[in-house]
Amino acid sequence: MTIERAGVIGCGLMGSGIAEILARKGLDVVVRDIDDAAVEAGRARVEKSFAKGVERGKMSAEDRDGALARLHFTTDLSAMADRQLVIEAASENEGIKKKIFAELDSIVTDPQAILASNTSSMPIVRFAQATSRPERVIGMHFFNPAPVQPLVEIISSLLTDPAMADELDAFTTEVLGKVTIRSDDRPGFIVNALLIPFLFSAIRMLEAGHATKEDIDTGMINGCAHPMGPIRLADRVGLDTCFYVGQSIYEETGDPANKPPLLLSRMVDAGLLGVKSGQGFYDDY
Ligand code: CAA
Ligand code: NAD
Repeated sequence: MTIERAGVIGCGLMGSGIAEILARKGLDVVVRDIDDAAVEAGRARVEKSFAKGVERGKMSAEDRDGALARLHFTTDLSAMADRQLVIEAASENEGIKKKIFAELDSIVTDPQAILASNTSSMPIVRFAQATSRPERVIGMHFFNPAPVQPLVEIISSLLTDPAMADELDAFTTEVLGKVTIRSDDRPGFIVNALLIPFLFSAIRMLEAGHATKEDIDTGMINGCAHPMGPIRLADRVGLDTCFYVGQSIYEETGDPANKPPLLLSRMVDAGLLGVKSGQGFYDDY
């Protein structure tokens, strides 16, 4: 199957980036969020990134205009009916995601369509079981920012059709130009199973008064050649997303390294979510 028509559910940080990359690679893309404000914020995010891409010489103004014309924003989920690939990138909440998969199952007409989730941590099989076609459900985990980061994790559940996983893998490398890795359907897959304990260790170090956030970040940038330190990276990921990802991995594994630190919990309660809310551990956004 040649994938030409894609859908993206959710146009926050990740959904907007995923929609952008799909449109840049020539696909017709329908992007759905829950209300006009979310849709407009998603559109503005894509336009800003396109402007940056043009400014950095990564795309021509003509390519930008072509990609923008292929992007259709909506609040109407039924616009997904004729899609061949739908990528769910809504908030990291199991209930919300299961409901979306159940709705997609009744809306998407092609039985061969691929229903993918960009979840950071949650079991793909639970979304598969919310549908009548579990063999067509898979994890397709992009990294932030999706238009720039090369990696996509492909996660097959116990029920995913292996031929479909191969097909999606080939599409992701050959059409989207990404680097893929394969993971079992385990909490945090490969990268977040390693990353979340690291981010939480840094937050606990800060919480304990062991070091300043600036020194923790400077340490990892200059001592280990990380492109950005863990405290600023948590702000970029979104402190709510970090919290929910950690909580989900902790609930399944019981590994205390993934238990969200109290400081993180309180910051989420306070609405201090990082770059997306304008303030997190840092306030220079
Ligand atoms: N469109 C196209 N290209 C772009 C672009 C855009 N909107 N923005 C930047 N670029 C390109 C630049 O042209 C540049 O390319 P070259 O190296 O070829 O010149 C490259 O991207 C980097 O550009 P900059 O360094 O100028 O951009 P930046 O300062 O905004 O940094 C970044 C971008 C390298 C991604 C940096 O922000 C970074 O390292 N961030 C951390 C990323 C990270 O660790 N992500 C993982 C998060 S965890 C996750 O995603 C998993 C999860 O489930 C939570
Ligand atoms: P975000 O908070 O920026 O955006 C989530 C969006 O989902 C919001 O716009 C919200 O309105 C929308 N939404 C909620 N319910 C919806 C529904 N029923 N239908 C359509 N849209 C709905 O979050 P994000 O950072 O974009 O994360 C989205 C997903 O991607 C999560 O599963 C997250 O774990 C995963 N992820 C995040 C990152 C990251 O670094 N932030 C990286 C990789 C994967």
